[in-house]
Amino acid sequence: MPSDHQVILVTGAAGQIGTDLVASLRTIHGNDRVIAGCRKTQPDASIAETGPVEYLDAIKRDQVEAVVAKYGVTTIYNLASILSGEAEQNPDLAWKINLGSHKTILDVAVAGKLSQVFWPSSIAVFGGNTPQDNTPQRTILEPESMYGVTKVAGENLSHYYFDKFNLDVRSLRYPGLITVKKFSGGGTSDYTVEMLLSALAGKPYKCFVRPDTVMPLMAMEDAVDATIAVMQAPAARISIRTSYNLAALSFTAAALEAEIKKHVPDFSCTYEPDFRQTIADSWPNSIDDSAAREDWNWRERISLDRLVADILQTGRAP
Ligand code: SER
Repeated sequence: MPSDHQVILVTGAAGQIGTDLVASLRTIHGNDRVIAGCRKTQPDASIAETGPVEYLDAIKRDQVEAVVAKYGVTTIYNLASILSGEAEQNPDLAWKINLGSHKTILDVAVAGKLSQVFWPSSIAVFGGNTPQDNTPQRTILEPESMYGVTKVAGENLSHYYFDKFNLDVRSLRYPGLITVKKFSGGGTSDYTVEMLLSALAGKPYKCFVRPDTVMPLMAMEDAVDATIAVMQAPAARISIRTSYNLAALSFTAAALEAEIKKHVPDFSCTYEPDFRQTIADSWPNSIDDSAAREDWNWRERISLDRLVADILQTGRAP
């Protein structure tokens, strides 16, 4: 179990996961003990006004080490990442950021004897050759997107640093994450967020995948809880050092549209698939996350109807 004396650096803190994760970590560990690391994007006021913010490029070792030394950082959550849609448009940048930052932070952690590192992986590690339903933890990893390629390589790098240097690095294969609190864009699962944001704004939505597109999805609040749970679990409970399968919901784009229409009956959604359809089609329909459930008691809390109701009734993620 991590000590109460953790000092945490979250890179990519202004992003979709970072915004919610920093807030939760500050509640648990104290505002001053959680440093929001941002590259260029300024974090939301909820982050900027509650604790330290540092501007750093997570691929630059000297910059990461300077922040680690300044605050006595013990733990890094490295959320700096280029998402799948953007990575397909700019594969060089995705390789550089996704793997460059991971390698830099693993090296900083080993050299500085940090206690823990978290790195996000994704359902994008799977591809068309992977079993699509109830996808197992250990299976074929032949991704078809550049984003997926970086995630498979990164998972193996994590495992190597655990094996070779005994570094306590932990990871989750996130499904598509849904929140309207912070929208960064660039992802394939973003049609879910865009659909909800359009409904909230009273606008029609042109969806970039087919209505029958199904993939594993999850409310951001559940994803943040899972991230904190895997990091708080005793090391002896962590049997997987590549990345844990993680699941909550699986539903089609049409099912989301139907759920939205229960609250916004005149919501209009049309479907015009673009290049992201190919990426979505290569991802699983559903995930077997029994290892996460057995090792550190993962349980999701938020159903599709609650997620949609909370977002549409309050204008925010549940
Ligand atoms: N949800 C991310 C994306 O769509 C993948 O992890 O890019």
